[in-house]
Amino acid sequence: MPNAYIAGTGFYVPPKIVTNDELSQYMNTTDEWIRERTGIRERRYVEKGVGPSDLAIPATEQALEAAGLSIKEIDFMIFATSTPDYYIPGSGCLLQEKMGFNEIGALDIRVQCSGFLYGLSIAEQYIKTGMYKNILLVGAEVQSTAMEISDEGRDTAIIFGDGSGAAIICPTEEDRGILSTHMHSEGKHLKELWVEAPASRAGHPRILPEHLDEGRQYLKMNGREVFRHAVKRFDEVIQEGLLANNLDIKDINMLILHQANLRITQMIQKKLSLKNDQVFSNIHKYGNTTAASIPIALAEAVNEKKVTKGDLVIFASFGSGFTWASAVIKW
Ligand SMILES: CC(C)(COP(=O)(O)OP(=O)(O)OC[C@H]1O[C@@H](n2cnc3c(N)ncnc32)[C@H](O)[C@@H]1OP(=O)(O)O)[C@@H](O)C(=O)NCCC(=O)NCCS
Repeated sequence: MPNAYIAGTGFYVPPKIVTNDELSQYMNTTDEWIRERTGIRERRYVEKGVGPSDLAIPATEQALEAAGLSIKEIDFMIFATSTPDYYIPGSGCLLQEKMGFNEIGALDIRVQCSGFLYGLSIAEQYIKTGMYKNILLVGAEVQSTAMEISDEGRDTAIIFGDGSGAAIICPTEEDRGILSTHMHSEGKHLKELWVEAPASRAGHPRILPEHLDEGRQYLKMNGREVFRHAVKRFDEVIQEGLLANNLDIKDINMLILHQANLRITQMIQKKLSLKNDQVFSNIHKYGNTTAASIPIALAEAVNEKKVTKGDLVIFASFGSGFTWASAVIKW
């Protein structure tokens, strides 16, 4: 059975930068408050009419080039997004058409901030069984259109941004690749971080005037609860990954966490006694980009040579659902 490894990575963020000072013009907040509580300095927003499938194109092109593969050599696609271009069909179908992939399977998955790691686990299984050879895994999000840019939405609007990351997963006979993945969910917390409408259960036609009046189309978050659970679950799922591979945290060269909040990352770093150069962070530039955050961070870490061949890398995610996951990789 071959191992599954990441043969190429890429990322793309839209050019429009939205700084904390800009947000402060529309809501009662300050640059200082946002930086202290989250570590975020700026985030990217798309222009009107741009969806996650558009953001995924440049990220995919870079990942293909890094892997030395052409579009026609990709035989399966996984598109992780919680903000699909349309309700129907999935964004993977849009990407297939826009980039001219063969008529390959295009699987959208919606597990929010854990989307990339769930997708990695799916890709690993297909490659190990020999069903597919070269799999494209994308994480792409347009969160800005679900932000309430006002005092009511200030706890959420300061955090989220738009972007995309991509990875190509391939088989290898070498002693490297994905060593394990671990996935979890706990749906009882669904309302701690959610978008209520439009929804099939919201009534006909899925969003009603009163929903719009009440702002139910916006992403809503109970920040304190999310924070509390995130710190616990990140630690648990990292330990689960280490234990499954008989590794100690001292063996790990790089920890790439879902970029939820700098304070969460710092708490995990302290808990695990990791040095600054063992933990990757780019939240100051992009905010929280949900399913795109891990592949963007990975692509930047690879570009900056902070992850190199032979390194042991551990990834962990936590987000809406709640869902959380980890992956251990020998790069
Ligand atoms: C959202 C978050 C930054 C808020 O920080 P916090 O320290 O928990 O702040 P609280 O929610 O307790 O609010 C403290 C006060 O700041 C206010 N506040 C909230 N957002 C604010 C903002 N953008 N600017 C200024 N004040 C703000 C609150 O209204 C509250 O005021 P009050 O005490 O008068 O009621 C923090 O809870 C957080 O980061 N949570 C995790 C979010 C996350 O990671 N989400 C993604 C997971 S995938």
